[in-house]
Amino acid sequence: MYSPLRIVLLSDNQAESGFVAEHGFALLIEMDHRRILFDCAKDACVLTANAAAAGVDLSGVDGLILSHGHYDHTGGIPCLLEAVPSLPVYCHPGVRQMRYSIRDASPKDISMPSGSRCALDHMPAENLHLVDGPLQLSENLLLSGPIPRQTEYEDTGGPFYLDTGALQADPLNDELVLLCRLEEGIVVCTGCSHSGIVNILHWTQKRFPGQNILAVIGGFHLCNASEERMRKTFDALRNLPVRQWIPCHCTGQAASAAFFREFPDKVCAGAAGRSWEF
Ligand SMILES: [Fe+2]
Ligand SMILES: [Fe+2]
Repeated sequence: MYSPLRIVLLSDNQAESGFVAEHGFALLIEMDHRRILFDCAKDACVLTANAAAAGVDLSGVDGLILSHGHYDHTGGIPCLLEAVPSLPVYCHPGVRQMRYSIRDASPKDISMPSGSRCALDHMPAENLHLVDGPLQLSENLLLSGPIPRQTEYEDTGGPFYLDTGALQADPLNDELVLLCRLEEGIVVCTGCSHSGIVNILHWTQKRFPGQNILAVIGGFHLCNASEERMRKTFDALRNLPVRQWIPCHCTGQAASAAFFREFPDKVCAGAAGRSWEF
């Protein structure tokens, strides 16, 4: 049976008046009588302040999905587990690994904060669901598992490594995407799209052949994209049956502007405090 879907953006690089902006991401997903957080912001204080401003009671959340292990998506883990000690958490087994962004030979730790890692290490093991393939969370909510990388022009989107010496590239294969199935089509929720937004949407089409994509919401991580990648990405996106684009977080200014140029009647910019109903 289909269920209505409500999405509230609780952390983003932009914010509505009365909400706090940060370089982070969190969505509240209400569907199938569930209230799930998809990512939990960079800063727990931002998550709690924006939830309060949106009238969202975080103690009523009944699931947390981590789209991947970057710091800007995982900061709220300790505060959520404190508010809901029995909270089920869904993440890839690799989400806790150390990872770095390295520019000019200076490594920046972009792993999840140690407090978040510690909270995951000490939560009840039976509530930690390690996801390494597609997982049906409820009748209409599907968690992707790793997305196959098929386009030759999409990379992870930055100088990401698993070590401080830049010897081992981070494939970001811990990334998960959430698909919400409605009668008229699919809503795709993505954290940073390190798998490539085109790869993600091609996988969605394979999973739900012939279905419309009602909306794509999240960080599309085109902030470092070359001209060639941008051109090839938009060439591919133009051919997809997407009704609404909601670029957020790490999409990047130039790419966000390109969405408005390419799809003027189909784009709605993300900002903390905004919500959508399907
Ligand atoms: Fe991010
Ligand atoms: Fe990321």
